[in-house]
Amino acid sequence: MMKLVAATHNKGKLAELTEMLGGRYVLLPVSDFDGGVEPEENGNSFEENSRIKARAAFAASGLPSFGDDSGLCVDALGGAPGIYSSRYAAGGSAARNAKLLRELSGVPEEKRTAKFVCCITFTDGEHEFTVRGECRGRILEREKGEGGFGYDPVFFSDELGRPFGEVSAAEKDAVSHRGKAVRLFAERLAEIYGE
Ligand code: IMP
Repeated sequence: MMKLVAATHNKGKLAELTEMLGGRYVLLPVSDFDGGVEPEENGNSFEENSRIKARAAFAASGLPSFGDDSGLCVDALGGAPGIYSSRYAAGGSAARNAKLLRELSGVPEEKRTAKFVCCITFTDGEHEFTVRGECRGRILEREKGEGGFGYDPVFFSDELGRPFGEVSAAEKDAVSHRGKAVRLFAERLAEIYGE
């Protein structure tokens, strides 16, 4: 099976991606090659940050590599937290969700629109491409559900008509930014390397 290096240090994400790619590739964590030294994510977009991670992983491993970058963009906040989603507030996702709800207090339902974005860049030194998945919805007035991670408890999915915090992982994958990006990624890989 073909080996792909994933520019993530997160074991859970690696297992999830392996599954989403249909078990057709062996995914190796970049930490097997880079000694835990992560590149500076100083891009101005999800695309750029995913490219920085993919290129750094390829430079460290010499193997086909990909990097991903994702986050939440809220229209009423001019697209924030955006590429700063993981650093929006210190103290974990509960603190970040609390800050988001605070920033949006008093904003009516129709103006609470938002989208999750996920970009994945692949490079093997010869082929390089970036795919992007988005999913639209709105920010709830308060957290709902116990499922998911990060901003899921405050996100209501337009496509599912339900909060991400209340749906199964499979339901979320079917419409999520990451699910969409990974499916496009798998299609492009198959075009390059065959089924
Ligand atoms: P990463 O760059 O993919 O690790 O994600 C950046 C940040 O965006 C994470 O810290 C999460 O808070 C947020 N995020 C990305 N995808 C999701 C999602 O599917 N649900 C909830 N939060 C997400």
